[in-house]
Amino acid sequence: MKTKAAILNGPDQLPIIGELDLKLESNKVMVKVMASALNHRDVWIKKGMYGGIIYPIILGSDGIVEYKGGLFLINPGLNWGNDEAFHGSNFEILGLPSHGCFAEYVQIEEKYLHPKPDHLSLTEAAAIPLAGLTAFRALFAKAQLKKSDKVFISGIGGGVALFAMQFAIANGNEVYVSSSSTEKIEKAIALGAKGGFNYKDEDMDKQVLKSVGPMDVVIDSAGGKGFSKLVNISNKGGRISIYGGTVGKMELIPQKLFWNHVSIYGTTMGSDQDFKEMIKFINFHKIKPIVDEVFPIQEIGAALLKMENGQQFGKLVLSNSF
Ligand SMILES: NC(=O)c1ccc[n+]([C@@H]2O[C@H](COP(=O)([O-])OP(=O)(O)OC[C@H]3O[C@@H](n4cnc5c(N)ncnc54)[C@H](OP(=O)(O)O)[C@@H]3O)[C@@H](O)[C@H]2O)c1
Repeated sequence: MKTKAAILNGPDQLPIIGELDLKLESNKVMVKVMASALNHRDVWIKKGMYGGIIYPIILGSDGIVEYKGGLFLINPGLNWGNDEAFHGSNFEILGLPSHGCFAEYVQIEEKYLHPKPDHLSLTEAAAIPLAGLTAFRALFAKAQLKKSDKVFISGIGGGVALFAMQFAIANGNEVYVSSSSTEKIEKAIALGAKGGFNYKDEDMDKQVLKSVGPMDVVIDSAGGKGFSKLVNISNKGGRISIYGGTVGKMELIPQKLFWNHVSIYGTTMGSDQDFKEMIKFINFHKIKPIVDEVFPIQEIGAALLKMENGQQFGKLVLSNSF
């Protein structure tokens, strides 16, 4: 069947609204997308900086969809595999290589549909899947978050980072953040963070240690030179979860890791089990995702550029009315 969609036709272009033919695979159902959300992955793909890009492609890993009269969130982490510890070789993310949610319709296996939390609007719910899942696994399955842990989350303007902050605060943890923007730090404090630091300050690590002391759990998606400061602020036995490489290569001093028993956990999205537990946690704590702005899908280009320029605080959501 044909679907209207925002279609990406090549690298360094913006998606354009058009129509594509979706051939329904026998193990999938066709569902109507009500709202969707951007992730940094969509920006990397738009810039041609992602493996295995095929054109034309409908991006969009996050969607809230209508199916058989109900509203469902899609778990975009497909074919995780049998081992809870890591994903298998058939793992895929919805929205490349398979067509994603920036469309009127998307096809998906029924098992990836999860009822929408009742306390959320369509646009709030659309913000959850990829970022919420990544944050949840980074904190709980990987860093083994305990209530007594002091938590540091870098780059709080980011979609995943904000979920990590909300989850840790809901869990009862004392949370500190970093950002390039004073305004974003103030917004995080208004949401319950105990304090914030500018990651562009050369002495950020010294500031953290002097004013609030070492951190038990650190969540990062930047890597780069600044990562060594995250090791410096880690407590003895500290756990660092890293899920992105926005800045790039890191330089680490081994002694700071082994002498302090600091562990670094690489993590990507999460298993089906992580997704179920995340939704349960969101329902239990009545967590409301932070939505920076809702764009009509026709303005997807503006939304992608806003994310590329890091102007957002929270998720950028699309309303999928064509
Ligand atoms: N492995 C996975 O499963 C997975 C899942 C989701 C995302 N990711 C990756 O994780 C990264 C973030 O994704 P997202 O969707 O949350 O992106 P996003 O919403 O676009 O957020 C990016 C954030 O990165 C922060 N940042 C930039 N430079 C930084 C630095 N030097 N130090 C610390 N933070 C910095 C910025 O924070 P401020 O605005 O506060 O300065 C910015 O808001 C991307 O690289 C993405 O590809 C990986």
